[in-house]
Amino acid sequence: MNTKYTVMSPEEAASFIKDGDNIGFSGFTAAGCPKAVSMALAKQAEEKHAKGEPFKVGMYTGASTGDSIDGYLARANAIKFRTPYQSNKDLRQSMNDGTTNYFDLHLSHLAQMLRYGFLEKINFAIVEAADITADGEIIPTCGVGIAPTICKYADKIIVELNSRHPKEIRGIHDIYTPLDPPLRREIPVYNVSDRIGTPYIKVDPAKILCVVNTDLENEGGAFTPVDETTARIGDNVADFLVKEMSLGHIPQSFLPIQSGVGNIANAVLGSMGNNSAIPKFNVYTEVIQDAVIELMKKDRITFASGCSLTVSNPAIEEIYGDLKFFREKILLRPQELSNNPEIIRRLGLITINTALEADIFGNINSTHVVGTKMMNGIGGSGDFTRNAYLSIFTTPSVAKGTKISAIVPMVSHHDHTEHSVSVLITEQGVADLRGKSPVQRANAIIENCVHPEYKQLLQDYLKLGKGHTPHSLKSCFAFHNAFNETGDMHNAKY
Ligand code: COA
Repeated sequence: MNTKYTVMSPEEAASFIKDGDNIGFSGFTAAGCPKAVSMALAKQAEEKHAKGEPFKVGMYTGASTGDSIDGYLARANAIKFRTPYQSNKDLRQSMNDGTTNYFDLHLSHLAQMLRYGFLEKINFAIVEAADITADGEIIPTCGVGIAPTICKYADKIIVELNSRHPKEIRGIHDIYTPLDPPLRREIPVYNVSDRIGTPYIKVDPAKILCVVNTDLENEGGAFTPVDETTARIGDNVADFLVKEMSLGHIPQSFLPIQSGVGNIANAVLGSMGNNSAIPKFNVYTEVIQDAVIELMKKDRITFASGCSLTVSNPAIEEIYGDLKFFREKILLRPQELSNNPEIIRRLGLITINTALEADIFGNINSTHVVGTKMMNGIGGSGDFTRNAYLSIFTTPSVAKGTKISAIVPMVSHHDHTEHSVSVLITEQGVADLRGKSPVQRANAIIENCVHPEYKQLLQDYLKLGKGHTPHSLKSCFAFHNAFNETGDMHNAKY
């Protein structure tokens, strides 16, 4: 780092932030997120509240963050509003009890919505960096998110310079911001590995309020090991893709994969990598998870473009220990690029995301538990699903033992419509919904994807309604009502 910047402690930096200010944070998932200043800010909020003074800030992030941002600030009751995605237990609770205002957004939309002036202005950007040069080149760490936009539009920038991330990471990022309408042109990514931007975020050095030195480690959680259910889902996806190749629906050179966040996504990639009938492939996705790194080492994945390295701490150490190998195989881009509909459609992505629940007609709820409680958010699932070459949703067929059927008569909240969902896959099997009418889709889903304990209930439901999509508006939430009243969807009555 060049010494021209003022160095401050996290507490000193946080003291510049006032009640009502809006903050943009770098990173995507916990990867690339600052940590020290947000924890100091939470303490500052608690001290102000103890004195009877108000203190809340608005928060823009790339996606979810680590506990040091969402957890600390939610527990301090210091959040005025929050967007676009989260996965923190305490924040979730404060959103669902009405304490915190949250608005759920497609992740590709946030940066441009900020630029268009649709949202409240950003007072501070807090950015985790591996390096910063005298002329204002910021090298992000292992996640980008909305960092370029918040750096451009914030009044002041606080840089958390984290010594755990080597300066030599320079070169792994591809920072590019599209022009806004009516001047926007095509975004020139024609191959997953095309580099179109700069390896740094360029800012006006005069806007840098201070640098905060830290060595806090990534808050990356390890994945739960693949279990029987996730392994079967993964194998079902891999087998389905092999069949699609043999039918000529997927080119022999294969197409890039987007795979959502979490354990199922990790298991799916593992199964694909282990299936010798699937050729080496590329990944164009949001989060690059552990399975991608493993498959790169085995030469099963050639290149991965994403928004973050959302990997376990041993995996990030491994990447940093062999940057020569990984820098040529990975690009980290802003979510406006990683999730961009134009690029997704041009590259022809096979997208694989997880549903919380699906209905028998192929509609998907990714966000709301039993229709009312926010789980995490839509994340990038809408960006990818709507624009995919082939869009797949996966889910275990049941949850909470078997008290919840993930497949219900009508979704209790609607994130992805039947029009955007090509294939539904559970551990039970695969329902290919392409070219099918609503009743044909329902039969395919009940036959192939539903848990045996719920098949009869759903077959009976299908006989109740009339019309093109034969719903019974009286009984369509019978599963959810039974769960709310008795804790078990088996008790659904029509
Ligand atoms: N109704 C009620 N609760 C349900 C449910 C249903 N149909 N299905 C699952 N649950 C519960 C589970 O029991 C579990 O509860 P617990 O935490 O008390 O154990 C919880 O919901 C999470 O389920 P789990 O199977 O562990 O979910 P996951 O970690 O695989 O995540 C999503 C699934 C849908 C929440 C997650 O993929 C997500 O946030 N998706 C939306 C964003 C997205 O797709 N991003 C990727 C784009 S790249």
